Amino acid sequence: MKKILTEELIPGMLVDREVVSPEGVVLLEKGVRLTSWQIVNLRNWQIPSIFIDETRPALPDAAPPSGLTAAAFLGEYVRTVDAVRHSFEHIRVFREAPVLEMEELVNHRITLLADTVGVLDYLYEIRLHSDHTFQHSLNVAIISAVVGRWLKIQGAQLKNLILAGLLHDIGKLFVPLSVLDKPGSLSPREYEVIKRHPHEGYRLVHDEPRVAGSVKLGILQHHERQDGSGYPNKLAGDDIHPFAKIIAIADIYDAMTSDRAYRRRLTPLAALDAIAGQMHDKLDPKVCVTFLDNMREYFTGNSVILSTGQRAKIIILNHRDRNWTKPVVCTPGGMMLDLQKEEISIVELIEEG
Ligand SMILES: [Fe+2]
Repeated sequence: MKKILTEELIPGMLVDREVVSPEGVVLLEKGVRLTSWQIVNLRNWQIPSIFIDETRPALPDAAPPSGLTAAAFLGEYVRTVDAVRHSFEHIRVFREAPVLEMEELVNHRITLLADTVGVLDYLYEIRLHSDHTFQHSLNVAIISAVVGRWLKIQGAQLKNLILAGLLHDIGKLFVPLSVLDKPGSLSPREYEVIKRHPHEGYRLVHDEPRVAGSVKLGILQHHERQDGSGYPNKLAGDDIHPFAKIIAIADIYDAMTSDRAYRRRLTPLAALDAIAGQMHDKLDPKVCVTFLDNMREYFTGNSVILSTGQRAKIIILNHRDRNWTKPVVCTPGGMMLDLQKEEISIVELIEEG
């Protein structure tokens, strides 16, 4: 084991000791092979050095199959988070959305990010040290774009869906951070304050003629649920706009797979399990089936780290009759493990093949 300065780290080095931020966020698990964006993450968190297993030589960083390279994706993502921050500050100060600026973001930057092969792996990997509102809004826009494509939405409609995803939580810009980031449970009054954000966001764009009606409804209805249990208007079934149904799923997926002040993120598989559990009451079943079918295809073949510390590859990920978090995996030695029958769990998804 050797202590290496963060600036001297090379992709492919093997992490020999868990890396935890001063705030207690686990940034890297022991046994992980470093990737270029994990190294950037470490710099972002200002971690000066980490422990590396020098007995195991560094492997080359895996490149994505096509589209932006990992490093290019990360650079573009960081610049886009900054642009989102800039637009949201404008909204906070002037109480109006800079529509042209945001359309520009959607048409160029966000579409490019969403079209990158491996985008969902990258979103799971990237953890910037910044206010999660900007990242969450961007991630929901990107995931909505990915799901929108799976649903064959295209052209101006797709761009409107992405804009709705980007703006879905703008009402939260006016909720005090003490309520928004409060660890633990909220008081009934605090919960009422949070529940006003879809309507607050809707009011902000309501009189803006350049914003399509579908975008406005996507913002207003993204917390409505299929069975009428949502808010603010307790709408049910087809009374909910399709964009709001897609954003609801993207919102749940990103919230569960991101770290929050009060809890650690879950793996994408655990988030998919939770979404599958809501597909017959809270969420739109048709959108869910498309989402889960494509996600199953996406994550089959993905590498994982098991609770035993071993690496393995997902071989069968079946959402019909089994727990999403318990796939059949194959170890590097060729051993097949059905996690449904083993006392072994998946602790991380990793992007290298
Ligand atoms: Fe929301």
